[in-house]
Amino acid sequence: MRKLKIIGTGSYVPPKVLTNFDLEKMVDTSDEWIRGRTGVKERHIVEGNTATSDLAVEAAKDALSDAGLKAQDLDVIIIATATPDTAYPSTACWTQKGLGIKDIPVFDIGAACSGFLYGFEVAASLIATGKYNNILVSGAEVMSKVVDWEDRNTCVLFGDGAGACIVAATDGDSGILASYLGADGTIGHLLVQPAGGTRMPASHETVDKKLHTVHMQGREVFKYAVRTMGGSVAKVLKEANLTAEDIALYVPHQANLRIVEATCRRVNMPMSKTSVIIDKYGNVPASSIPLALDAANKKGKIKSGDLVLFSAFGAGFTWGAMIFKW
Ligand code: UT7
Repeated sequence: MRKLKIIGTGSYVPPKVLTNFDLEKMVDTSDEWIRGRTGVKERHIVEGNTATSDLAVEAAKDALSDAGLKAQDLDVIIIATATPDTAYPSTACWTQKGLGIKDIPVFDIGAACSGFLYGFEVAASLIATGKYNNILVSGAEVMSKVVDWEDRNTCVLFGDGAGACIVAATDGDSGILASYLGADGTIGHLLVQPAGGTRMPASHETVDKKLHTVHMQGREVFKYAVRTMGGSVAKVLKEANLTAEDIALYVPHQANLRIVEATCRRVNMPMSKTSVIIDKYGNVPASSIPLALDAANKKGKIKSGDLVLFSAFGAGFTWGAMIFKW
């Protein structure tokens, strides 16, 4: 297997900030409830006709600049998203257009909040073929356009944003030490955007019933998330013959701070090693891992040889974990 390196990371969130206090004026909620139950204080949301690829393009430019590369140096673009610009073309095609490049393979990954980890594993496999060298892997989401802003159970949770990294072939000894991906479609109904696909095409009725928005049985999802995140982390630590003590940085998907804390307790990971962004960004499905990675990287918190642990859980259900040697 060829070794791989993360040679650049990047982020972009839209400028508009929606605080919990703003939400108090929109639905029957309180800053105290949202902070206490989820850890979210504010989130960024898009305005006007801004779409997911617009955020992905900006995050990609940031990651390319960090890597010292131009868009023309990319060999593949992989965009993980649950909120594509259009059913087709893919958000990756729109991102490619936004970056002003052509003639390379580009595609989306549909694994909701686990999408970035799925995309990363695919990128590693493509690099291993020897055919591709520089791959953009990004998570990008515009959740604000698919939540029901009258449903306090869901609208307070999510935010918009994109994170990206450039994965490249290397002769060094960095790369994936252990990884695990899983899914269980039998419980998919617990977190679903029911309408707009071929099962329930868009109609006046689906729009009237707000079936194009997030429908979640939060308490059930919470239980699965804690169990699965903890189980996935334990699995990759065991596979790599490591313990939480060996990990320099933990970068989890962040649907709820309480899920992250519970996962940390289960695997003896101190919260001090965790890159937390949910307070500022909310749950930004496929983007939360690359956003949290970029936040830690730009603060100079990762050095060569450090072991970084990723873990995710999301709609599908999908999940995964990975230990990466920086
Ligand atoms: O990203 C992918 C996966 N997503 C997740 O992993 C999300 C998992 N689920 C969760 O994070 C949590 O279940 C939520 C944050 C969604 C909800 O927290 P909870 O502690 O499970 O609350 P709950 O749903 O059990 O609701 C408790 C109470 C209810 O009132 P009653 O029935 O006890 O009177 C809700 O109606 O809190 C009420 N409630 C709210 N109150 C104020 C629900 N949403 C709100 C709100 N403001 N925004």
